Amino acid sequence: DVTREFLQQLPKAELHIHLEGTLEPDLKLKLAQKNHINIGQNTIEEVKKSYQFDDLASFLAVYYPALAVLQTEQDFYDLAYAYLLKAKDNHVRHVELFFDPQAHTSRGISFETVINGFYRATQDAKSFGVDAQLIMCFLRDFSKESARQTLLEAKKHRDKILGIGLDSDEHHNPQMKFATHFENAVSQGYHITMHCDIDQVDSIDHIKQALEVIGVERLDHGTNIVENPDLVDFVNQKQIGMTTCPKSNSFVSADMKGKEITDLLAKGIEVSVNSDDPAYFGGYISENYWALAEAYDLSVDQVVQIAKNSFNSSWISDQQKRNYV
Ligand code: HPA
Ligand code: ZN
Repeated sequence: DVTREFLQQLPKAELHIHLEGTLEPDLKLKLAQKNHINIGQNTIEEVKKSYQFDDLASFLAVYYPALAVLQTEQDFYDLAYAYLLKAKDNHVRHVELFFDPQAHTSRGISFETVINGFYRATQDAKSFGVDAQLIMCFLRDFSKESARQTLLEAKKHRDKILGIGLDSDEHHNPQMKFATHFENAVSQGYHITMHCDIDQVDSIDHIKQALEVIGVERLDHGTNIVENPDLVDFVNQKQIGMTTCPKSNSFVSADMKGKEITDLLAKGIEVSVNSDDPAYFGGYISENYWALAEAYDLSVDQVVQIAKNSFNSSWISDQQKRNYV
């Protein structure tokens, strides 16, 4: 039977998690105190009470201002290291971590401070068996010029970054706004993926841009694709991985999109289950597997297939994949 315990112990890859979204209330308060930043809350209860959101925009309005507590390279290290220990507990063998440099450079923190702290934590996680890589995201509500500069700054750190992604507020910020930067990223050898958040205005257009024009290797969220059978066939034929996030979905919409996720899984699409922003959405990856498995009565075969999909749609080598699938 599929139990919480079984799901926790199942070896998995995590492909949709934002390092900034792993900032737990206790670390947030600790860093606020150390760095003398007034975040408006003084206790864990007060921080948790401030987590009131019911869509992407209201979530992002809570999420981004709190990042002011991150100041030094060690702060970024501590944030990533705390997550990587949780990854180990959840039997995550491989993780591809999103981070948002512009959320920090825009408030005067250097790109180096961010990348060096995060990267050093990923290297230290090897000692406890977690293979961690970084995916740098552009903030889609920032300008094209800001994205261009960010990609340029990343050049010196090319070896520390596996791929490029796109996140933050999708409304009025289509994928095509960044098409030339993604083309440039591919020419520099980065892997590419993009958020296609659930139930957006123009979801299907955005998904088409990502798949047909820009040529992403994965879709982050993207479950609105079920509205368009041709796109579902496209994703199936090209083996585009889809990184879904049940608990996140429950927060920003009315449900976890379990019907969409299980339908796509049944069609043979490489759907994975991930935690997105676990410090905000009430659970790490195993809890996301459990939420879906419990609500949709998933079989052992189904959850094992999801875990296999997570490795198959990851950006590890085919040789490494053979260790897991
Ligand atoms: N969508 C868009 N932006 C985000 C997300 C997300 O799921 N998580 C953190 N930033
Ligand atoms: Zn996300």
